[in-house]
Amino acid sequence: MKLQGKVAIVTGAARGIGRAFAERLAEEGASVVVADVLDGQDTVKAIESQGGQALALRVDVSKAEDTEAAVKSTIERFGRIDVLVNNAGLFANLTRGSFVDIPLAEWDLTMSVNLRGLFLCSRAVYPYMKDQGEGSIINISSGTALKGTPNLLHYVTSKGGVISFTRALAKEIGESGIRVNGIAPGITRSEGMLNWGENADAGTVASRVFKRSMVPDDLTGALIFLASDDSRMMTGQLLVVDGGAVFH
Ligand SMILES: NC(=O)c1ccc[n+]([C@@H]2O[C@H](COP(=O)([O-])OP(=O)(O)OC[C@H]3O[C@@H](n4cnc5c(N)ncnc54)[C@H](O)[C@@H]3O)[C@@H](O)[C@H]2O)c1
Repeated sequence: MKLQGKVAIVTGAARGIGRAFAERLAEEGASVVVADVLDGQDTVKAIESQGGQALALRVDVSKAEDTEAAVKSTIERFGRIDVLVNNAGLFANLTRGSFVDIPLAEWDLTMSVNLRGLFLCSRAVYPYMKDQGEGSIINISSGTALKGTPNLLHYVTSKGGVISFTRALAKEIGESGIRVNGIAPGITRSEGMLNWGENADAGTVASRVFKRSMVPDDLTGALIFLASDDSRMMTGQLLVVDGGAVFH
């Protein structure tokens, strides 16, 4: 087990990719906080049934008071924070089509969850990771930011921001021993993606070297690598996990 005794917070872990991340972190020995606007008890039960430790917290990552309270509860329960996975994001329910038709409120909401959420969660864990002299922050971007995927401009812009955030924060806080890296997944069959329809990934699958759909568990190996000491000399980097659709 690569993360024995470590403590991880995963945002958006009530379902989808975040849930797969939470379960795999627990398999590797970490205690996991499931931070979501939805009830994360199912994820917690799945982890506990495998002998792991987990805590579900209701958190809206775009609200400073929520993120600070979540970090406080994490410290009270588990005593430290080694890994933050900034996974919560809005995408499946967003307006697709011409950028002129994106409602202003939806643009702002997307930036608020997908970018302000990263800022607030990272800011909340920073003092603890700094005191520990180590920590790993992992931000979930998207292959769409590298491809410049059209007709989802608010989402794609926010995910491009995730890459810049990762690079700049890595330089800013690296001297505290905190690493900041990102993962850019290709389209993946989460609950959110399946809202778009059973075959919504068909076009992307055709553009891959490996011509099959991706499932959340296809991303967990990269996550554990970035969370663990195996990547100890890596920071500011982006791992593209998409079956070979874009080369970064
Ligand atoms: N599925 C894909 O094809 C794909 C591809 C590339 C990147 N991503 C990214 O991966 C991440 C996870 O996506 P997913 O496919 O599992 O999505 P999903 O919609 O299935 O799950 C997202 C989770 O985030 C939670 N969430 C949403 N807003 C929140 C908020 N304000 N505070 C806390 N939690 C909140 C939701 O409740 C949900 O549990 C997202 O950042 C997404 O942009 C997904």
